[in-house]
Amino acid sequence: MTDVVDPYRVLCVVGARPNFMKTVPVVRELAARDGFEPILVHTGQHYDAGMSTVFFEELGVGAPDHLLGVGSGSHAVQTARVMERIEPVIEAERPDLVLVPGDVNSTLAAALVAAKLQIPVGHLEAGLRSFDRTMPEELNRILTDQLSDLLFIHSPEARDNLLRENVDGHAIHAVGNTMIDTLVAMRGRIDATDLAGRLGVEAGRYLVVTLHRPALVDTPLLADAIRALEQIGTDLPIVFPCHPRTRARMASLGVSPSPERVQLTDPLGYLDFLGLVAHARAVLTDSGGIQEETTFLGVPCFTLRDNTERPVTCEIGTNVLLGLAPERILEVPALIEERAGVTHRAPDGWDGHAAVRVVDVIDRFLTDARVPAAPAVAYQT
Ligand code: UD1
Repeated sequence: MTDVVDPYRVLCVVGARPNFMKTVPVVRELAARDGFEPILVHTGQHYDAGMSTVFFEELGVGAPDHLLGVGSGSHAVQTARVMERIEPVIEAERPDLVLVPGDVNSTLAAALVAAKLQIPVGHLEAGLRSFDRTMPEELNRILTDQLSDLLFIHSPEARDNLLRENVDGHAIHAVGNTMIDTLVAMRGRIDATDLAGRLGVEAGRYLVVTLHRPALVDTPLLADAIRALEQIGTDLPIVFPCHPRTRARMASLGVSPSPERVQLTDPLGYLDFLGLVAHARAVLTDSGGIQEETTFLGVPCFTLRDNTERPVTCEIGTNVLLGLAPERILEVPALIEERAGVTHRAPDGWDGHAAVRVVDVIDRFLTDARVPAAPAVAYQT
């Protein structure tokens, strides 16, 4: 009779929009391999159809095994709710590893609960640092990395950042970028979308704008940014898919851009959004993930922040940091011209195969953990 070996059970936690694209390739890879069983938990930090459901449908991953329904709240409330609701799930499932992506509140909450239950934690996109502790994401990143046993990095400076914080170098694994895996896998379907056509803007001639960070949209700077966009929108058509936080802030500030110059849309699904970006003249954003996606696609990106936790996108990609300075939006048309023909490349491991490398590392880690310790006394024959 052969021994039946239990599969390795990996509980993957997603919560907010960018998490889905980072995690799904790993869930798929786990599901495809013998000896692994993925368990997908969605905290419900994002919950609107346009912020959540559409991604599950498009990425074809099926419904999550557990939906925690935490919704919105202050940072403390949201983080605490994830912790309260995920603890019984982890206790019941007893996974071999908990995998968390990125830097949102759900990421930190799940990592902390797992670590206290003595379940090993793997962190996708470890080691990114903006060195700006006023960003909630920076605190989430630092703490999640400290709690993790496996640190999956996708750019070289992440290793230096982690070593500076005294994490064990053996825990760091350069695997590449799983979010780019999703882009590569979906490229055909992305290219088949024609949202630009439906919106009446010409491919290669419009600017895509996304702004959602509190440092910008929860301040009067948002009104300055909208005014600057209206100004450049006379010559450069603008499409602005609007995060619900930004939409609400515009309403409370009483600003609404003229639709002939700035087309606001509801949040877009993954395929439509990436299709829009792939055919854009340029992108203006304060998002982290979009700095990476434009780097991969070779689309000029202007980042309206003082810092980036993704410096590799500026060093070898297409990204330019404008600063948290809405008046610099007026320079974007000239900067686009200046940057025409600037060379760029994708960082190593942004190649569509990162999830395979992630699961290889998990396999080795869990196999080593299962090997029984050598007996203390050698047996005589
Ligand atoms: C969160 C992440 C941020 C990430 C972003 C991606 C944290 C600290 N922040 O920011 O790092 O870049 O997701 O979008 O985790 N709302 C809805 N419907 C939804 C979700 C949110 O209307 O489905 C509204 C609510 O008014 C909510 C606000 O958006 O209060 C903010 O949502 P929240 O999840 O707190 O943070 P994000 O700004 O989305």
